[in-house]
Amino acid sequence: MIELSLDNSVRSLLKRGIAQLREADVPSFTLAAELLLLHVLGRNRTWLYAHPEEILTDTEVQRFCDLIARRAAGEPTQHLTGKQEFWGLEFEVTPDVLIPRPETEHVIEVALDRLALRELRAGRPQKSAGEGLQIADIGTGSGCIAIALAKELPAANFCATDISPAALAVAQRNAQRHAVADRIHFLESNLLYAVPAGAQQAAPQRGKIPNSAPRVDLLQSPITSHQSPLFDLVASNPPYIGRREGPSLPREVRDHEPHAALFGGEEGYELYADLITQSARHLRPGGILVLELGHSSLPAVQPLLETPDWTNVGVTNDLAGIPRVLAAERV
Ligand SMILES: C[S@@+](CC[C@H](N)C(=O)[O-])C[C@H]1O[C@@H](n2cnc3c(N)ncnc32)[C@H](O)[C@@H]1O
Repeated sequence: MIELSLDNSVRSLLKRGIAQLREADVPSFTLAAELLLLHVLGRNRTWLYAHPEEILTDTEVQRFCDLIARRAAGEPTQHLTGKQEFWGLEFEVTPDVLIPRPETEHVIEVALDRLALRELRAGRPQKSAGEGLQIADIGTGSGCIAIALAKELPAANFCATDISPAALAVAQRNAQRHAVADRIHFLESNLLYAVPAGAQQAAPQRGKIPNSAPRVDLLQSPITSHQSPLFDLVASNPPYIGRREGPSLPREVRDHEPHAALFGGEEGYELYADLITQSARHLRPGGILVLELGHSSLPAVQPLLETPDWTNVGVTNDLAGIPRVLAAERV
């Protein structure tokens, strides 16, 4: 507990908040205390360090103390502030969605690089707005992958699926926040099973989605083999942690993030086979698949792309040197 004191200045409260989080073994305790204080005050970091003597109101002190206590008990900072930055954009996060991680930005980089290469090979300018492109994001969560790509490719259309309706509602709000909701069709679906037949149905026409309510559809019938491929790009960061790893996860993750977003099966990589089979069915020839990998998934997942369906398989490491993104092209 932050000790009650007459000194309710920014400097003193921050110091006491940091001490309480350090005591509770919170990772990055200084940053967490700063972010919570900034959240309570509605200020930025420059203000914080320029006004160390500023006195907080009793209400602000109480709110800060409550947030510090919740953080010390294990709630992620992002659940307390309700936001996380990804690809330079601010995303709403709730306990219904995975908190976007920095390593997922490699999925965006690889997708954009592969699309640019495809344009180069076709003799078109590498930097395109994505005219005519149909892109799928499987397991969209907060919507961070679809929305970041939609900002980079302002003429492309998207289909973003998730099995969690609660996650889709958050993703829809994020799409509205970033003014891309009219180009993303959100669909409640197990992987791509509910994606309707016909490329034109996969993405909404501009302006057809009402802004007031989430555009979330549930189509019961699975796709059948005679239907034609739809997408130019399928991107996914699927759940990839093994259930047997659960007990060793940090409490912030294990106790507060949705298990449907974390666990991909007993080993963790179980979802990839189905994901790759469905992507092969739904990609156009020359279409691109970009998958985020768990820290030890590569040996189990890469062989799934060693079939006549796929070519140009490539692996990208993250900043820690872990194979993080697997990409391939549909033959
Ligand atoms: C690791 S999270 C990724 C969320 C977001 N794309 C990101 O990168 O932060 C995986 C997401 O896939 C969803 N999911 C899990 N199993 C699924 C399935 N079989 N079909 C569709 N979505 C699924 C989860 O609900 C969760 O939102």
